[in-house]
Amino acid sequence: MSRYDNLEYRRAGRSGLDLPVFSLGLWQKFGTDFSYDTQRAIVLHAFELGITHFDNADRYGPPSRAAQQFFGKVLRRDLAGHRDELILTTKAGNPIGDGPYQQGGSRKSLLSSLDNSLRDLGVDYVDVFYHHRADLSTPLEETVGALVSAVQRGKALYVGVSNYDPARTAEIAALLRVAGVPLLVHQPRYSILDRSIEENGLLDTATADGFGVVVYSPLAQGLLTDKYLTGIPAGARARTSAFLKPEQITDEYRRRATILNKLAADRGQTLAQLALQWVLRRPEITSALIGASSTGQLDHNLGALAFPALTDDELAIIDGAI
Ligand SMILES: NC(=O)c1ccc[n+]([C@@H]2O[C@H](COP(=O)([O-])OP(=O)(O)OC[C@H]3O[C@@H](n4cnc5c(N)ncnc54)[C@H](OP(=O)(O)O)[C@@H]3O)[C@@H](O)[C@H]2O)c1
Repeated sequence: MSRYDNLEYRRAGRSGLDLPVFSLGLWQKFGTDFSYDTQRAIVLHAFELGITHFDNADRYGPPSRAAQQFFGKVLRRDLAGHRDELILTTKAGNPIGDGPYQQGGSRKSLLSSLDNSLRDLGVDYVDVFYHHRADLSTPLEETVGALVSAVQRGKALYVGVSNYDPARTAEIAALLRVAGVPLLVHQPRYSILDRSIEENGLLDTATADGFGVVVYSPLAQGLLTDKYLTGIPAGARARTSAFLKPEQITDEYRRRATILNKLAADRGQTLAQLALQWVLRRPEITSALIGASSTGQLDHNLGALAFPALTDDELAIIDGAI
């Protein structure tokens, strides 16, 4: 039995690259405020389960760059012999500090961030270099030029964008195609609680332009698990992170989550497993980018793949609950 027998791998758009249907992100709980041993155990367990794709950004921590420096340590100590089996990503463009050079879409900020990320990770190249979010104040040609340079200089194998709207995505995809560096992937948010990429046309653009879609926060940061149904447990993200606030655990949220939780129970699975199956039901989705604060969460979430596909009636119940 090989680690590659656990998971399905899907082709990223019309590229030659396969990604696991579950990828691990290091946004939260991979900073200096969380145990190194726990973080290391999660990364190594993910790899053993067939998760070859690890998503990072210059900004992840806290503080900024800490998640990449942590990952660099694990890579050096534990995974050094596996670089050719790992898909490592980084992103630049979201603010990571004061001043004009630590954010945006300029050639200056993107390429200096990438150099710092390569140093943090201790690698010569990343597999995917993303522009983290659109920067309307910088000409798109300049951002494209920086992404193309990253590939031409051997510092990235592929390029991606995150949080771009469909029109700007189509625009950058066209410019990158002409430059001979096709857009590999888009990284948007997508979950039962946020279906905007179905409605705004991004998934249609992905099909038309041939890029893959790696979706983040498929569990809505934990809201699409059973952990907040009766309270807010100690240590849960709604208590530890500025990005998920206790005020988001409203009565209306609990009403919806309770319906979804019952549907999951009727299927013999958990809400987390239902939510993950739901995002992967669309063929445009290459991978669901999950976070984890324990190895148990990884085991549990990958268990989603053991269940039969959602039926039309079940999908209608989900639509009706939201
Ligand atoms: N491009 C962007 O702008 C952007 C933005 C956000 C995220 N991302 C990427 O997407 C990745 C994933 O985002 P995310 O962490 O928000 O994804 P998520 O999968 O929606 O949420 C993960 C969190 O949910 C909780 N959880 C997971 N499995 C659980 C289970 N079985 N039972 C109970 N709780 C469970 C854990 O939080 P606790 O245990 O701590 O409560 C875990 O850290 C990030 O690491 C990052 O790489 C990208």
